[in-house]
Amino acid sequence: MVKVYKNVCITGAGNGIGRAIAIAMSNEGYNVVCADIDLKQAKDTLDFILNKQGSGIAVETDVTKAFDIKNMINSTVDEFGSLDILVNNAGVTRTSNIMDLTEKDWYWINDVNAKGTFFSLQAAAKQMIKQNQGGRIINMASVGGKGFVDVSNAIYAASKGAVISLTKTAAQELAKYEITVNSICPGITHTNILSGIVKKRALEQNKSEEEIMRHYARDIPLKRPNDPEDIAEMVVFLSSKGARNISGQSYNIDGDFLSQTFSFLRSNDLIYGPAVKSYLMGKKPPPFDLLYWNSDCTNLPGKMALEYLEKFYKNNDFSKGKLEVLGEKVNLEQISQPIIAIGTFNDHIAPWKSSFNGLSKTSGEKVFILAGSGHIAGIINPEHSNKYGYWINNENYSTPEKWFNSSINKNGSWWNEWYEWKKQFLAEKIISTKMIGITEIEPAPGRYVKKKNK
Ligand SMILES: NC(=O)c1ccc[n+]([C@@H]2O[C@H](COP(=O)([O-])OP(=O)(O)OC[C@H]3O[C@@H](n4cnc5c(N)ncnc54)[C@H](O)[C@@H]3O)[C@@H](O)[C@H]2O)c1
Repeated sequence: MVKVYKNVCITGAGNGIGRAIAIAMSNEGYNVVCADIDLKQAKDTLDFILNKQGSGIAVETDVTKAFDIKNMINSTVDEFGSLDILVNNAGVTRTSNIMDLTEKDWYWINDVNAKGTFFSLQAAAKQMIKQNQGGRIINMASVGGKGFVDVSNAIYAASKGAVISLTKTAAQELAKYEITVNSICPGITHTNILSGIVKKRALEQNKSEEEIMRHYARDIPLKRPNDPEDIAEMVVFLSSKGARNISGQSYNIDGDFLSQTFSFLRSNDLIYGPAVKSYLMGKKPPPFDLLYWNSDCTNLPGKMALEYLEKFYKNNDFSKGKLEVLGEKVNLEQISQPIIAIGTFNDHIAPWKSSFNGLSKTSGEKVFILAGSGHIAGIINPEHSNKYGYWINNENYSTPEKWFNSSINKNGSWWNEWYEWKKQFLAEKIISTKMIGITEIEPAPGRYVKKKNK
């Protein structure tokens, strides 16, 4: 990911998510300040980083104390010359039911989670404004702040709600200084905090800790809690050049990530229009089943989703021969098998000329079909519908324009061409999973396609 800044300070870097963030940022080449109330743990994270040839310092910091916050910022600037990114990650909780919570809990949890976050943010913003080079502030909130059902306790949920709200307001006020402010809302994540919650719930419900974990996992689309590294990947992204125009957002880390990204690609149709018409003007949304197609909750791990967007969508690395897979550079020319590819005339996400250019670089036999209509309706066009039509041409693959000008326009759905094209291969040996040495998981179409989006 392209870096624009050099120096990052992370609170609560001694354990769990903070430690994973410190390591991930160091792997990306940042100078890392590991701040934690527990200096021994902060030093442990730092040692790990230094052993891997990274660079950083450890600073004892209690984020509830103004003096410590000031010292944390000053130490960063003294050591590395500037503070570019602050990750407000330190957080505490204890698992408790609403009736058992005390005033002491209120002050402790809010002091660290809400007050600590706010005053660290304020001190960092002052320093960033002085430096006049913008900056990034990333706050660790929680899905608990958005009403997650099995949060550790109500005070914790309120403290994280405060983080989400202050993120929004701070983003608005600090935008004029080119400082972005976002928060991340992890779901349950394998750390000490989670172990505490699981132990308590197991005791309360007279179940084993494994049973409690299984119960949690059942409700997660990806069927597993986060690893701290999943959260760290998001911090790397929000710190990168690619995130320069993202501010005031609170991102859940869960399986819905990619679907939201696709919605943003067509935000006028999928977000703002419906928000204005239905939410602000109270109009009943028109029946628009195609929206469901777009909200396919593709369950990709965060790292894979980000790499996909960065390398394929943004940098076009595969086409440029710059994509690296397991240390090998791969490019489109290496694809030599026959390909039939489809573009649609009004596609807003994959413009047909780009798809065409991609196909023309492959070295095998190729057929390009240009279907009428757009990204969704043009593709889902049943063969009996007799709608939209398509253009086809087996020659002139030098430019999209030459190909189009000598193409034939036919009526009906492109699907019929696909059926015909496939027939030539059916006579050949059909490759089974056994022949290529992989085991069949279950009969087609598999459970995944039947899974309902929540
Ligand atoms: N683990 C989860 O399931 C989960 C889910 C949602 C949000 N979060 C949030 O992620 C953040 C990190 O949590 P974690 O799970 O890694 O917890 P953790 O307990 O493993 O680590 C928290 C770190 O914060 C430090 N810390 C505590 N009080 C501090 C203070 N006053 N000043 C400075 N440092 C202090 C601790 O010493 C520790 O190193 C927290 O803000 C937490 O609320 C965690």
